[in-house]
Amino acid sequence: PAIRLEDYTPSPYRIDRVHLTVKLAPTATSVEAKLWVRAADHTTAGTPLVLDGDALTLTGLELNGLPLLQNAFMATPARLDIKDPPSGPFTLKITTQLDPENNTALMGLYRSSGTYCTQCEAEGFRRITYFLDRPDVLSVYTTRIEARASEAPVLLSNGNLLDHGKIAGTDRHFAVWHDPHPKPSYLFALVAGDLARVTDSFTTMSGRPVALNIYVEHGREGLCDWAMDSLKRSMRWDETVFGREYDLEVFNIVAVSDFNMGAMENKGLNIFNDKYILADPETATDQDYANIEAVIAHEYFHNWTGNRITCRDWFQLCLKEGLTVFRDQEFSGDMRSRAVKRISDVRLLKTHQFPEDAGPLAHPVRPRKYKEINNFYTATVYEKGAEIVRMLKTWLGDGAFRDGMNLYFRRHDGEATTIEAFIACFQEASGKDLTQFFRWYEQAGTPKVTVRSAYDRKAMTLTLHLNQTIPPLPGQPSAQPAVIPLRFALLDERGQEVIPARIDGAEVRGDVLTLDRARQTVTFHGIDRPVLPSLGRGFSAPVQLELDQNTQDFLFLASHDADPFNRWQSLQTLSTRELIRLTGHIRAGEPAEPDRDLVQAFGGVLGDDALEPAFRALALTLPTELDIARELGQSVDPDAIHAAQRLLLKAIATAHSTAFETAAASPVPGPYSPDAKAAGQRALVNKALGYLALTGGEETARLIARRFEQADNMTDRIAALTLLVHHDLADAPKALDAFRKRHAGSPLAMDKWFQVQATAPSGATLARLRALTRDPLYDASNPNRIRALVQSFAMGNPTQFARKDGAGFAFVADSALAIDGRNPQVASMLLTSFRSWRSLETARAKAAESILKRVFETGNLSRDSADIVERCLQ
Ligand code: ARG
Ligand code: ZN
Repeated sequence: PAIRLEDYTPSPYRIDRVHLTVKLAPTATSVEAKLWVRAADHTTAGTPLVLDGDALTLTGLELNGLPLLQNAFMATPARLDIKDPPSGPFTLKITTQLDPENNTALMGLYRSSGTYCTQCEAEGFRRITYFLDRPDVLSVYTTRIEARASEAPVLLSNGNLLDHGKIAGTDRHFAVWHDPHPKPSYLFALVAGDLARVTDSFTTMSGRPVALNIYVEHGREGLCDWAMDSLKRSMRWDETVFGREYDLEVFNIVAVSDFNMGAMENKGLNIFNDKYILADPETATDQDYANIEAVIAHEYFHNWTGNRITCRDWFQLCLKEGLTVFRDQEFSGDMRSRAVKRISDVRLLKTHQFPEDAGPLAHPVRPRKYKEINNFYTATVYEKGAEIVRMLKTWLGDGAFRDGMNLYFRRHDGEATTIEAFIACFQEASGKDLTQFFRWYEQAGTPKVTVRSAYDRKAMTLTLHLNQTIPPLPGQPSAQPAVIPLRFALLDERGQEVIPARIDGAEVRGDVLTLDRARQTVTFHGIDRPVLPSLGRGFSAPVQLELDQNTQDFLFLASHDADPFNRWQSLQTLSTRELIRLTGHIRAGEPAEPDRDLVQAFGGVLGDDALEPAFRALALTLPTELDIARELGQSVDPDAIHAAQRLLLKAIATAHSTAFETAAASPVPGPYSPDAKAAGQRALVNKALGYLALTGGEETARLIARRFEQADNMTDRIAALTLLVHHDLADAPKALDAFRKRHAGSPLAMDKWFQVQATAPSGATLARLRALTRDPLYDASNPNRIRALVQSFAMGNPTQFARKDGAGFAFVADSALAIDGRNPQVASMLLTSFRSWRSLETARAKAAESILKRVFETGNLSRDSADIVERCLQ
């Protein structure tokens, strides 16, 4: 049964206060929850109270201090009904018994590597106690935790520490935490274990001191510096840029090694997948450092966008997620190179969100129905949601955007609210009607904007004929025009900007013109010389732009556009066209030659010292094979795409071999530092090395092997190992062994070792992966290991996942089935990799379909997995 947005009704009851007493023991934890309940209003007073549960065992129940009679309530693992509650306020005392040790779903309270921890978003609190487990019920929590002092010397929950001490006459101790800020149950958290602590402090803008702690496994204290530094920078940035101050005496972070997602923003007690905390040069790459910075910021920023102001219901998920992703992107942009950050974010959007938005799992940023909310923590909700917020800023301007944000914080602080309420703040701040803009939240699919341009020298006009459509999708046969802000400039043949005297046919504010109709003609007046439009600068809207420009035009933009994003985009567009052309020839068995001008252009980028190295490394990265598959949209043959990709890469490598040699030979000076500049230099060196690997003979192979041996940091080591393995160079087996020996003690480093092998584009990969699942360093129940080995194969190895014989599909499906009973969220994540199966050529599509059907027919699929498979097949 699906839950629908239009069925929302306010909760008939409120729970103002919650006192939890949690007595921890590995397989028999007792939770006593005292709830202060009252009816929402007189119409609901005295009506039956229905509390949510999930796999719960009730061991005690009192109402107003008296045990409830058997016939006054009904309890199942999934709900607790109080049939005839008093009409005035009352208290309930509910006792449940849990088995954290055997909670393998990693939702609710679980125990991993000896540490107790919780994950409650979205609906995990109901696995701890019966509750109104919905985000619009806000309560003040006081939590008493008891545990054996030796087993769990550290006891943490939300808010501030009120009290702690020994429990006389026992080997146990306790701590009492109080969180003064009313919050929904999904933000509750508890952690207990034997953990090491790294501490620091922060003084807020109004002068209040905050204790900062990061808790990690003993021995990992030295790996927290970067996370702590990122936290302090995030706190300062949110004060400076959004005027947001922290609001408790302490901010705790805990890193755990078994965690389904990236991290969780529980009030005052963020819990992280340890891969987003732990870093040193020996085990973490530059990308890891950047991710840690971004995720720390993301979870911290949730304190205001998510916690102080939360969601009325789960349909509003992007109210907190889209906005918070936007905020963390802006933070990283300020910490690093803005252009490079923007390009990386757009790459991510195009490879993950665009395909989601074009296939059977497409859904609006605010879905209208769901069967399992966990399946909606998607690239669409997160990344496209962030693009919508960015469009607001682009379209309304920085001033109105800031005013709208301030109004939102002022008006809705302490509330559980909706997207409508959020957008209303910007409508008021800007005086603009945002009704049509709202469609971005309600319509699925990536709009396609086609542009035809005509220059009239006599009339001195440039005319753009624009056309926007959203292709039909399952459940959305047609769509209405969206509001599309396009940042633009007109460039003359020297690359100088030409400022039009007047613009007709679209709303224009500064350098942003906004489309809002299916067909639109925009005329720029006073254009006295031929110009080339640079449209969608900075990727100002999440659309697919189809420009009528030719190769020379794009090459011109690639070298002259003042907007670095469009410089990058122009080369990408050309490369995409070229790869599609080459793929066609390869499939037809015809000879094919890469375009010389395009190949030359890459040399221009490589040799342009005015461009920052990180940008050059990105510009030298071709669109991914998945990007090309998505552009093709149907009858996809991953082998042909792969061959085309190789052909173009080789041509570039051959044409510029000397320049690549020089670039690969310029080592990054000084001791390793994870800063953006040094990271960019390493990225360029390793990119150059990658090109050399395509053409080079034994000498290059030796150079790469040497780079592997001599690397003094993980970034360079893993880059070299990837080349050795993916190009099947003679030293690959030796290097794999050496890496395994060196990093056997670091599961996070070993994940990279699994991932390198999982993504090797070779017919031997699948057999190797099957063997690796039996490696003692592999753990088929740890989400990070599964992601490294299975997920990266499914999402990052298109030729082998989509093997013609179906064996790649079968491997992923069987891995999902194997974990589904233990951990449905991880299983359904694996199954989403089937989402583009229909666009494959017939033989492969048939193979995928029969495997999906086989999965679907397996009895006992979790709701999570069943939902994904069902939608993939529909
Ligand atoms: N709110 C968390 C974050 O974005 C993610 C929680 C994911 N939860 C889930 N059930 N998938 O930071
Ligand atoms: Zn989030």
